[in-house]
Amino acid sequence: MKKRNYFVYLLSVILFVQISGCQQPNQKKTDMEQKVDSLLALMTIEEKIGQMTLFTSDWDVTGPTMRLGYKEDIKNGKVGAIFNAFGVKYLRELQQLALEDNRLQIPLMFGYDVIHGYKTIFPLPLAQAASWDLKLIEASEHIAAVEASAEGLHWTFAPMIDIARDPRWGRICEGAGEDTYLGSLIAAARVRGFQGKDLADNNTVVACAKHYAAYGAALAGRDYNTVDISDRTLREIYLPPFKAALDEGVGTFMTSFNELDGVPASGSKYLLRDILKGDWGFQGFVVTDYTSIEEMVDHGIVADNKEAGELALNAGVDMDMQSAIFNDYTLTSFNEGKVKIEDIDDAVRRILSIKYKLGLFDDPFKYCDEERENTLVMHPDHLNFAREFAAKSIVLLKNEGEILPLSKNTKNIALIGPLADSKTDMIGSWSAAGDYMKSTTVLEGMKAKLPGTNIFYAKGCDVLGTDKSGFSEALAVAGKSDVIVLAIGESRDLSGEATSRTSINIPGVQEELFAELNKLGKPIVVVLMNGRPLDLTWLNEQAPAILETWFLGTKAGDAIADVLFGDYNPSGKLTVTFPRNLGQVPIFYNTKNTGRPITEDKWTSKYLDVENTPLFPFGYGLSYSSFQYSDIKLSQNTISPSEILTVSVDVKNTGKYAGEEVVQLYLRDLVGSVTRPVKELKGFEKIFLEPGQTKTVKFEIGADKLKFLDINMKMVAEPGDFEVFVGTNSRDVNSARFSLVE
Ligand code: NOJ
Repeated sequence: MKKRNYFVYLLSVILFVQISGCQQPNQKKTDMEQKVDSLLALMTIEEKIGQMTLFTSDWDVTGPTMRLGYKEDIKNGKVGAIFNAFGVKYLRELQQLALEDNRLQIPLMFGYDVIHGYKTIFPLPLAQAASWDLKLIEASEHIAAVEASAEGLHWTFAPMIDIARDPRWGRICEGAGEDTYLGSLIAAARVRGFQGKDLADNNTVVACAKHYAAYGAALAGRDYNTVDISDRTLREIYLPPFKAALDEGVGTFMTSFNELDGVPASGSKYLLRDILKGDWGFQGFVVTDYTSIEEMVDHGIVADNKEAGELALNAGVDMDMQSAIFNDYTLTSFNEGKVKIEDIDDAVRRILSIKYKLGLFDDPFKYCDEERENTLVMHPDHLNFAREFAAKSIVLLKNEGEILPLSKNTKNIALIGPLADSKTDMIGSWSAAGDYMKSTTVLEGMKAKLPGTNIFYAKGCDVLGTDKSGFSEALAVAGKSDVIVLAIGESRDLSGEATSRTSINIPGVQEELFAELNKLGKPIVVVLMNGRPLDLTWLNEQAPAILETWFLGTKAGDAIADVLFGDYNPSGKLTVTFPRNLGQVPIFYNTKNTGRPITEDKWTSKYLDVENTPLFPFGYGLSYSSFQYSDIKLSQNTISPSEILTVSVDVKNTGKYAGEEVVQLYLRDLVGSVTRPVKELKGFEKIFLEPGQTKTVKFEIGADKLKFLDINMKMVAEPGDFEVFVGTNSRDVNSARFSLVE
């Protein structure tokens, strides 16, 4: 290149970088920046701090309501957003209150925990994940957004994308399970579903990636407990779903309650300014989880609330949920030089930008439309979808002697158990504005499907407690039936926030009820409901058939009936390991090999008193059909970093029912600069096969799938040998080997 041409070229590159880097060519963003900057220039520091404050209304609180006078706060501009309030009428009222005397006309933003549906409730997130169906998951969040926005909401505190490996932790039900790869794909799908293409559309809501970070790694599975993990584990296991949500454009992040390496997340500069806003370039805003700023005093990292506010703001928190600490102390902290105006302005800029993107400056009441509210919420299409999704979230754990599906011609069926006709429990924990009275129970679902069949119902016992007085009635109805369906497990309030358990047994006398019924010698199908992996070792030895139905939402009963009677052939697969007993916990599939991998030999890494495998491994789930896998074929045995290897298998439906199968691909890097897990999920495909049909499933492996954080914490694919596995779950796989060469 000639010298002059080179300078012209250089100039154009510089100009391009400036235009694309500093100011996107998107006209809307420029308008937004102008609007936000002009507001910032006019705002007093008190008004700015008001925007950085989020208060709950007095509905649905998950902790102490600190601000009973929140309406006064709204009027006085001391609050920028409200949560736990919904419905067009009420939200319009609050918005009017905010704008009445507001000289700058900055609208409120309304948030809510829309975790698995808004009023049409879908399965628990852990159950949804078992569908391994990203399209369905995305579609469910879209429906949730349509309903929530039709009721005036702008913002959901979801998705919850915490990886969780400990079934004692009650919040395991809110996430996608134990796997980072699947969890990241699901995180992105959820963000797409909530946020759609444009936040300004009146049927989308801003999503919130929570709880940042490593909340699921609470020691001993005790909620809110300390987290102590290596930086490698943090970055390799817990952070990727957050990065995936960010790459999908998530508007907000929520800090977690836990400390990490000695610093509570709401005061962690490392997590917030260094990683999230620095390395990852996050442009949205960070809200704390509930009173977690104030809780830093109890953590013992600050002496008082004022210091807590300073630590949070300096660390990179933009909005204080419910602590009222920014509100009460930040002005003083600023006057004392303890916090910087640049950080306050940055926080407010981020918050106002989201309000702008929602279109609230154009029309603060744009989500307040009674007609949408009346027509869209619990629309029949949403309910039909909920039923389909619920059926696809069920996991068939056991089906000895093909006892399932039950024949629709069965004359007399006993439906027994505390969860067989319990409307309250169907919608599970964190069920937003869902009305459990609108849910269908198993009894209702079965009756609706089989109006001509005798369905004899008896509760038998409660979920908790020792009362066996209902056993005799249960035995009586079972006695006159051809088959027994027993609905047992946990009640909805045994999982979710603040519901850690030291036992993962089926509680109360429910197993005893099973044992009594089993003495009748009749076929028994167990319909299990629960929000966490349970210890099913005993039940699995006794019961011929077990259906894992989690908590399936508004249409639970219909979906369970669909599966029980073969209108839907189950296809769900566990996304979390079910241990043989609690002593094995934490147990997860992507473990390390150790220097003494398990063998018959005594001196290996194992327990003496239990078989050293999980009861049900990650990825496990049966079908009414059976699927046969061919050996793995590789397109080549050696690849270079720029090449793609194709792995193919033929999968044949060898059973008599049409059905779906989730074909799973795992990889193992045999020798690394740091040790690698024995298997890592790197791909999957859900296929539908008619009886006798065969499909070839192909996966592509390039260097990207082989990368990991090496000894220098750099993402690299190291040359060497790899093992590839394909199968129906993480245990039952075929394998082959290939090498990556430089
Ligand atoms: C506390 C929970 O940890 C969080 O997930 C939720 O979004 C907030 N409360 C608000 O309800």
